[in-house]
Amino acid sequence: MSDNILIFYGSYRSDRQGIKLARWLVDAFAARGANAELIDAKAIDLPLLDRMYKEYPSGDAPAKLEALAGKIKAADAFVFVAGEYNWGVQPGLKNLTDHFLEEWFWRPAAIASYSAGRFAGARAGLQWHGTLSEMGMVVISSALAVGGIGHVFDADGKPAGEGGASLARAFPRFADDLAWWTEAACAQRIRRDPPY
Ligand SMILES: Cc1cc2nc3c(=O)[nH]c(=O)nc-3n(C[C@H](O)[C@H](O)[C@H](O)COP(=O)(O)O)c2cc1C
Repeated sequence: MSDNILIFYGSYRSDRQGIKLARWLVDAFAARGANAELIDAKAIDLPLLDRMYKEYPSGDAPAKLEALAGKIKAADAFVFVAGEYNWGVQPGLKNLTDHFLEEWFWRPAAIASYSAGRFAGARAGLQWHGTLSEMGMVVISSALAVGGIGHVFDADGKPAGEGGASLARAFPRFADDLAWWTEAACAQRIRRDPPY
């Protein structure tokens, strides 16, 4: 059965660049047989966090929150496309993520960081690692780190130049690592209910 992978992206900027990486990842996972879906925080447009999903009485959550909760609960694995703002995480993605907690539990997560500079969003990636661990995900050790994000894809969204070639080379190991943990987590959830 295909792995259900949600790919989260959280920039709200008009001229956002990371969307090309997020879309490429959806296609790259789909090409491996996964059922991959882009979750674009800007498109969903949740308000700044007021009530978490679980704080609404059953059936009272706003429709877009309810729909997203259903997708998160049904997913086998998560990928966070993590841009870097001032050495930190993007607020749009953090806002979306914070609306949930238990809905994330017991699944693996992978981080694909990026930025305009040479450090490839590594500082944001590091922060996400701690946050996702706190939220009950097993963060895999393989990560993608994409520097010079404005030059990594051509106008058709295909990897271009040295940066694009490096991304294409790094992807299979990243995806293999996530697939291994996805299978392990699925098998364990069938074998034994999570302890809480
Ligand atoms: C508010 C802001 C802060 C930024 N801070 C950093 C930074 O700390 N490190 C870095 O490498 N790039 C930084 N950049 C450049 C971003 O990496 C680059 O604009 C990238 O395209 C942002 O992702 P997005 O286009 O998907 O929004 C910053 C950009 C913005 C808008």
